[in-house]
Amino acid sequence: MKKTVIKTKDLCKTYVSDGEQFHAIRNLSLEIYEGDFTVIMGSSGSGKSTLLYLLSGLDNVTTGDVWFSDIKIDSLKEKEIANFRRMNIGFIFQAINLVPNLTIFENITIPGYLANKNKKLVDQKAYELLKMFELHELSGRLPSQVSGGQQQRVAIARGLINSPQVLFADEPTGSLNSAQGRNVLDILTNINEGGQTVVMVTHDFKAACRADRILFIRDGKIDGDLELEKFTTDNLEQREEKVFAYLTEKGW
Ligand SMILES: Nc1ncnc2c1ncn2[C@@H]1O[C@H](COP(=O)(O)OP(=O)(O)OP(=O)(O)O)[C@@H](O)[C@H]1O
Ligand SMILES: [Mg+2]
Repeated sequence: MKKTVIKTKDLCKTYVSDGEQFHAIRNLSLEIYEGDFTVIMGSSGSGKSTLLYLLSGLDNVTTGDVWFSDIKIDSLKEKEIANFRRMNIGFIFQAINLVPNLTIFENITIPGYLANKNKKLVDQKAYELLKMFELHELSGRLPSQVSGGQQQRVAIARGLINSPQVLFADEPTGSLNSAQGRNVLDILTNINEGGQTVVMVTHDFKAACRADRILFIRDGKIDGDLELEKFTTDNLEQREEKVFAYLTEKGW
């Protein structure tokens, strides 16, 4: 039996703009399992980013509940939620969102200093991540002085600085070429194999094939839930066929 790490019940998110309501997430109930690599797919505007924001406590629910382990995060106060996020969650944004006037090293370490008083330990973790992502020679540069693929890897390193229980990634390969994309996917697969739960939104078929489970979102609701065997390099072809058939059925 898999253990549940995140659970939602009747989740709704309604945006109001220009006096008009838009129901981006509609009565959505789901469970994310510990140690899983869960992928979320669905067409543009279907509510994927909104769902990630709600699951990670980055945005407030309109109605419904979100539990992270035993904590009901939708009822935490603003300060508590910020602290909870720092301790438990890493988030890689759809737009990379690095701070332009901070170096690569500072972009990675600052969320670490906020969560952990031991600066030395944070720096040590940052060096490990820089090495792992082949960024160690770039640590003193600004984001504008490195490539798009390198920026994306910095964003992932930043998401991992506090060794979060769950790493959320919103289209982490969206702006990368195929070699860079594969590199990022290998990193995420690696992290997942190390025991961290990964929840990734993607439009990319190859990226989706890394999943243990693919949730399909349509109009703010879950419209499909495919479970796959654990990813290995041997079962790739089989998985690709299965994922392709599933996505074709969903009209992707
Ligand atoms: N702040 C906002 N105010 C009003 N509507 C919003 C807001 N943010 C998102 N929406 C709307 O909610 C819907 C879901 O948006 P969301 O960003 O979750 O989509 P998505 O599935 O991530 O799309 P994409 O694949 O293009 O990133 C869209 O129709 C979008 O226009
Ligand atoms: Mg999105």
